[in-house]
Amino acid sequence: MTVIRRLPDLLINQIAAGEVVERPASVLKEVLENAVDAGSRAIEVQLEQGGVRRIRVTDDGCGIDREDLALALERHATSKIASLDDLERVGTMGFRGEALAAIAAVARTTITSRADGEAHAWRIDGSDRSLTPAALNQGTVVDVADLYYNTPARRKFLKSEGTEYAHCDDMFRRVALARPDIGLQLSHNGRVIHRLPPAAPFARVGALMGDDFLLNAREVAAEGGILRLSGFASLPAYSRASRDAQYFFVNGRFVRDKLLAHAVREAYTDILHGSRHPAYVLFLELDPAGVDVNVHPAKIEVRFRESRAVHQFVYHALKRVLAESGAGLAGGEDGPPSGLSADRPGANDASAAPFAAQGSTAAGGAQTYPAGAARSWPQQAPEQGRLAMDSASRSYFDFAASARPAAATTYASPTGATTSARPLPAGDGAPPLGYALGQLHGIYILAQNAAGLILVDMHAAHERILYEKLKTVLDGCPSVQRLLIPAVFSAGAKDMAAAEECADVLAGMGFEVSAAGPQELAVRSVPALLANAPVAELMRKLLEELREFPASDVVTARRNELLATMACHGAVRANRQLTLPEMNALLRDMEATERADQCNHGRPTWTQLTMADLDRFFMRGQ
Ligand SMILES: Nc1ncnc2c1ncn2[C@@H]1O[C@H](COP(=O)(O)OP(=O)(O)O)[C@@H](O)[C@H]1O
Ligand SMILES: [Mg+2]
Repeated sequence: MTVIRRLPDLLINQIAAGEVVERPASVLKEVLENAVDAGSRAIEVQLEQGGVRRIRVTDDGCGIDREDLALALERHATSKIASLDDLERVGTMGFRGEALAAIAAVARTTITSRADGEAHAWRIDGSDRSLTPAALNQGTVVDVADLYYNTPARRKFLKSEGTEYAHCDDMFRRVALARPDIGLQLSHNGRVIHRLPPAAPFARVGALMGDDFLLNAREVAAEGGILRLSGFASLPAYSRASRDAQYFFVNGRFVRDKLLAHAVREAYTDILHGSRHPAYVLFLELDPAGVDVNVHPAKIEVRFRESRAVHQFVYHALKRVLAESGAGLAGGEDGPPSGLSADRPGANDASAAPFAAQGSTAAGGAQTYPAGAARSWPQQAPEQGRLAMDSASRSYFDFAASARPAAATTYASPTGATTSARPLPAGDGAPPLGYALGQLHGIYILAQNAAGLILVDMHAAHERILYEKLKTVLDGCPSVQRLLIPAVFSAGAKDMAAAEECADVLAGMGFEVSAAGPQELAVRSVPALLANAPVAELMRKLLEELREFPASDVVTARRNELLATMACHGAVRANRQLTLPEMNALLRDMEATERADQCNHGRPTWTQLTMADLDRFFMRGQ
């Protein structure tokens, strides 16, 4: 039979509910957002049994007129937009006018409301739309009980009370993070779980994410054209095994967006191991006309008009903040390294970003530079070490010397304030990482600085330095070292083919490789930075990676992975004996390198044991 019928309203709403009302948390989202849209200053949420038994939201917003109460429950009835033009620049959380209709179709719903100027409140019953007078101060109470009582098939999809509650809790957090200016309270089964007075953004973030997060996060504050990014992003040391602490808001709306997620992941690639996830609370703001929020009924996905620009902006803003190494040694991404100033420790960070200063302390363990340390040091510096260092720097890392700033430089801090930093004075003033004392078991470098003892993981630190340098060098024209004796090694057919196909890519990185026989490859030149690396081994590894991906991909997306491989092979190996001048040169290079606090895999490269730490251990003065 093919008789076409119009569906009854209730059924239409129940179908719509399938999209909008997935579970108690989605009811909570809609009702909370309505309270926010109503201009409320205080909102209270009461949940029973994970929200399945009851969700009641009380607000002190504008309220709903008696005549409008029935309309509020109608599908496609809204006070928030009236035209396509409004839709394109919508500033409220809601605008589709379908949530209350859908909710009322699948749960026992009442709305009690008292608009400004009304003598008393009115209550509407969602099932029969009857109106009765009620008592209430200005505002609205939406009560949603027994979710899916009339749609048992859907009820079966509900999870345990604990799981449903957890989803509600997360939803509540999203709204609370987005609107620190609103006082919010959440209780579950009569117990108050969150009581959040109106607060400054950082205080609200601290209350919900934990002070631990704030201590290990950088404040983000970037502006570019019509785009603004603010919030907090964790340092690698605070990374998580799951993505549960990631909040991204676009114009105050929590979103899960592939483009934004990708931009964030990219910003962390060099400093975070692939299996770890950063924690962040980030707010992107832009002209509402630049983003389409009407992509998904729950509005959790968005579409950007200028998606590339948005991606680049978020990526660079985050990357810049994260690049400021914990020791505060490196400058912004687009400027040269800021060098070291004698009065540097803490001062700049503290004024520019209150959390950054504390965050950096906790970044890689115990990295602290007491204020004034640099000044009090010089007398004890081993004289011969310092003299020898200059020549060692030259031979050890040619590139480093030229990359150091020759004159005073300025760079913009992430908050926009301009900070000036002076380069390291030539003769006096002690370097933050101090001077080398010796090598421990061929793995660690021990150094003395003003605060005490510095321990450096030699290989990890060198790997990081090489990686950053390779990146910089290869952006320009790599300086190439011709090998006196080509490195010849046996290669299979696939490697032979890869070497031929990717000759250009390899040449662009400073490698000249060609066939030396039917099953032999010869490397004739390498990037100067890798002159001392085990060349054959490195080339084998590179070809292996090149084989897996078409060359065009490699140059862009996979390039940094190749560089990481190169850095890993080029970096000093354990058990290689370094001279003191070589060790000092390495320390100086660390100071001049961005992100030197972590190796490419996100492990720390150095740590500090202060005199106070040691005194405490030996119980001196107790
Ligand atoms: N807490 C509230 N305070 C004031 N008005 C409300 C509240 N909740 C809902 N409303 C009114 O009911 C209308 C319908 O709500 P809803 O179905 O969620 O659609 P939308 O939010 O998309 O407009 C809203 O446009 C608003 O006018
Ligand atoms: Mg709504």
